[in-house]
Amino acid sequence: MKTSIKEVFKKSGIPITMVTAYDYPLAKLVEAAGIDAILVGDSVGNVVLGYESTVQVTMDEMLHHVRAVVRGVEKTPVIADMPFLSYQVSQEEALKNAGRLMRAGASAVKLEGGKEVAETVQRIVECGIPVMGHLGLTPQSVNQLGGYKVQGKSKEKAEKILQDAKLLEEAGVFAIVAECIPAGLAQELSEMSHVPIIGIGAGAFCDGQVLVLHDLLGFNDEFKPKFVKKYESLCDKIMNALKEYKNEVRNREFPGPEHSFFTSEEEMKKLY
Ligand code: KIV
Repeated sequence: MKTSIKEVFKKSGIPITMVTAYDYPLAKLVEAAGIDAILVGDSVGNVVLGYESTVQVTMDEMLHHVRAVVRGVEKTPVIADMPFLSYQVSQEEALKNAGRLMRAGASAVKLEGGKEVAETVQRIVECGIPVMGHLGLTPQSVNQLGGYKVQGKSKEKAEKILQDAKLLEEAGVFAIVAECIPAGLAQELSEMSHVPIIGIGAGAFCDGQVLVLHDLLGFNDEFKPKFVKKYESLCDKIMNALKEYKNEVRNREFPGPEHSFFTSEEEMKKLY
């Protein structure tokens, strides 16, 4: 039985933990570790599919990864990102696409933007689908933002983020991701907002934190933004394992008798 979104995303004083996952085995591990929620982010595009940006990710790709993650969890709520242009064209299309992600097993959807998406958010929420907002650095608008930069540094831009958060809250979001904004602004946002603010590159004073799983595991050595802490160096571990395998095959050390099948004990003794 899935833990409800409401139960997980409450301002209790205990920071909420969320990470991304895009497949069955990692979703299982995330749940076993007791992380509060999983985001099937459209970061799947950069992290797993080798795209240059999230702009290339399609609904079909999101559905494929949502289904895999949902199969890996029993209790952990799964939030699905609505990909680029799946919610901007019309409210009807947004609602239809949010519904497809819910039918794939998601507990909620996330979409990027403030004022410009507030009415769409309200429509989706009115139809019974929980929505998470996303402000600050919104990667689907990277071409408009002029790159992956910290947002809300000027007084006007900070004010716009605070206003957008208010509009999203009024539209009915259950939480808001705040990406790459100054720590002071994130604190103000968290204090002002009645729904939890989940930070990524937004400092420590948020109601919760989210990280891309592959970044925190050190699965991608080429991507090292300041806000990521590498808790593991999987790249190095995977490289060492692959080199060891290659060497053992070339030296005929693998497979050994313990990895092989024989018709009898005598056959084994004859061969080894
Ligand atoms: O797609 C994603 O992984 C995200 C997080 C960075 C919040 O939206």
